[in-house]
Amino acid sequence: MPRLIIISNRLPLTINRKDGELHYYPSAGGLATGLNSLDASMERIWIGWPGKEITDPQEQRSIAANLKEDGLVPVFLSQKEIDLYYGGFSNKTIWPHFHYFTQFTTYNDEYWEAYQTVNKKFAEASIPIIREDDLVWVHDYQLMLLPAMIREAFSSTSIGFFLHIPFPSYEVFRVLPWRKEILEGLLGADQIGFHTFNYMRHFLSAAYRIAGFEHNFGKLTVGHRLVNVDVFPMGIDYDKYAFPEIQLNHGDSSFSIKKLAKGKQLIISIDRLDYTKGIPNRLLSFEKFLLHYPEYHRKVSLMLVVVPSRSSVDQYQELKEEVDKLVGNINGLYGTFDWTPVQYFYRSLNFNELVTLYQEGDIALITPLRDGMNLVAKEFVASKEKSKNGVLILSEMAGASNELMDALIVNPQDSNNIVAAIHQALTMTEPERRWRLSNMQEKLKKYNVRHWAATFIKEQKKLMEKQKDQHTNVLSRQDREDLLQKYKAADRRLLILDYDGTLMDFHPDPQAVQPDEQLLRLLKALTEATGNRVVVNSGRDRHTLQDWLGDLPLQFAAEHGVWVKQEHDWQINSSLNNKWKKDIRPLLENLVERTPGSFIEEKDYSIAWHYRQIDRDLGEKRVREFRDVLLYLTHNLDLQVLEGNKVVEIKNAGVNKGKATTQWLNGQSWDFILAMGDDHTDEDIFNALPEEAYTIKIGLDRSQANFSLPGVKEVRMLLEELVAHS
Ligand code: UDP
Ligand code: G6P
Repeated sequence: MPRLIIISNRLPLTINRKDGELHYYPSAGGLATGLNSLDASMERIWIGWPGKEITDPQEQRSIAANLKEDGLVPVFLSQKEIDLYYGGFSNKTIWPHFHYFTQFTTYNDEYWEAYQTVNKKFAEASIPIIREDDLVWVHDYQLMLLPAMIREAFSSTSIGFFLHIPFPSYEVFRVLPWRKEILEGLLGADQIGFHTFNYMRHFLSAAYRIAGFEHNFGKLTVGHRLVNVDVFPMGIDYDKYAFPEIQLNHGDSSFSIKKLAKGKQLIISIDRLDYTKGIPNRLLSFEKFLLHYPEYHRKVSLMLVVVPSRSSVDQYQELKEEVDKLVGNINGLYGTFDWTPVQYFYRSLNFNELVTLYQEGDIALITPLRDGMNLVAKEFVASKEKSKNGVLILSEMAGASNELMDALIVNPQDSNNIVAAIHQALTMTEPERRWRLSNMQEKLKKYNVRHWAATFIKEQKKLMEKQKDQHTNVLSRQDREDLLQKYKAADRRLLILDYDGTLMDFHPDPQAVQPDEQLLRLLKALTEATGNRVVVNSGRDRHTLQDWLGDLPLQFAAEHGVWVKQEHDWQINSSLNNKWKKDIRPLLENLVERTPGSFIEEKDYSIAWHYRQIDRDLGEKRVREFRDVLLYLTHNLDLQVLEGNKVVEIKNAGVNKGKATTQWLNGQSWDFILAMGDDHTDEDIFNALPEEAYTIKIGLDRSQANFSLPGVKEVRMLLEELVAHS
């Protein structure tokens, strides 16, 4: 049975030393609370940091033994690692940067070194535990290099990654000096999940612009693997908050919360102390509300719970001082002997207190400036399952606002907007409160945390199957042996090779792809072997092919079969005309004028527009724009419009690489045929060949070919072997 291996920076339990004794506490924050709610339908092992420096090896062993019972594996970090990797790169570089607080981003090589070292430490702790058929799930921004590190050790294990914070726009991400390494680390995973479509979109754009990976409906091809990038909004354990098992006793704090709420409208606010949460903005807006609506004095209180977090980071300490001051100001200015406008608590809550607060709160005021998801908003809504009474005010900058559309959505920087929302919430009719809550509850019930994890894992398993299918297509060692044996045994062999993307890698300038020494040597050796006929079947014009390869005894099909050279002369496919080019050319010229970096390539019987050097999105927009006009212009001219790899080509209908291929088949008999090509124009070659031919698609895209190879490097290796078997 495959097991689920969760790896996150923090374990769901945090160790703390009190009076010399070690105590275990539940960890705070969305990741720990969310993942801890997963049911155990799969055997689960959770690897992570226990939240405290433990140096004594004896103590480390005893903690590891204690945690083992719960399937938890601790990764111990030294104080220096905690300072530089956790306090440093994770929380002073990535956290602010990914939340658009670029003014707080710290660029420090020592932090980066430590981030790499600790990611490696996590890899070393995980690798002995992982089995090839396990499902590995790495979490969050502290471990973005880990997927690639695990991938190095396990080529076929299924690895997922989930980012619990926003992925910033490409324009922000690109500023990081370590952007490429971070992307490459993440792309070691088979599946990368985000809370919202926007985060996914930003990631795909960065992967393309920084590392050159293009996607097809969220799927990227990375080497031999397909990587699925998708949206999986994290849910909560709905029933835990809707039907909580809590006991209230006289004298305990939950009871006091109930008393405090009596006779007043209670606005609640619960977050970790974090500048992303917008706590000062919230307080200033509440102050403004009190200024504009004096009739609510002594009738409304704000219960502000701030959970201590990352206190070693300067900005968090400064924020604490700012919040203390703002609360003091408001209470000093508006407080009365029987009313404290802001009830302020700087501590964490136990579950009883948290749920009581959710139940008693009339309004939840959640106004982060940026937040990956925000589970507190969802927990508040679920806690109103029975009462159906309460209003959620939610920042549009929280990932949760994409799902909780029936909340009062506010811009957290717009204090007037927040003041108006507070007033709207206080005066909202009972039926409106009820329908808004019911709508949100329906969604949260269905898309709960188990659904989130199950969907992520289901998609990852589906991908695993797909990868396997794909791999069955890849030319295996055995297939290669068979191919070489058949090649060796044959007397008359036909090899048909596409040029760009098959024999040579792409380059932004098509004229810069002249054959290199190795290729010339290989082609020469192949043509010299007795019984071999080697054909280069390309979309390129005949002059280029002649210049580059004409000295070798190769045969050619150029311009997708317009020209063919078998023995000595280039022959043109009869029945062609090229008068139409003068009508089409102005259209393409107009396109070039509007699109710097694109250019026209005119061949004898076709004309093409290349856009390899321009932004992919702009290129596709232009293609869409002119496709219709082209189709209109070409429909009665017996022309075809061919969309290739970053090129659109217009040429005579009925000419293609497959038709050209038949010239080497008719009236000739071969004991061995091999064809290789990467583009969809090469599919015509594959289709034209008899079944027993070896057809090999270069790349992982769908194809009619029997086999595939990942790229030019592997093609060259195969050609070397053919030479050796000649
Ligand atoms: N929470 C907690 N202790 C507290 C208060 C809140 O563990 O004293 C939990 C809360 O129930 C929620 C999580 O911490 O599940 C906060 O997650 P959220 O996504 O709102 O914010 P994050 O802290 O992850 O930025
Ligand atoms: C956010 C992050 C989590 C982190 C949590 C608490 O939810 O996405 O990865 O665990 O905050 O922060 P901490 O620094 O205490 O782990």
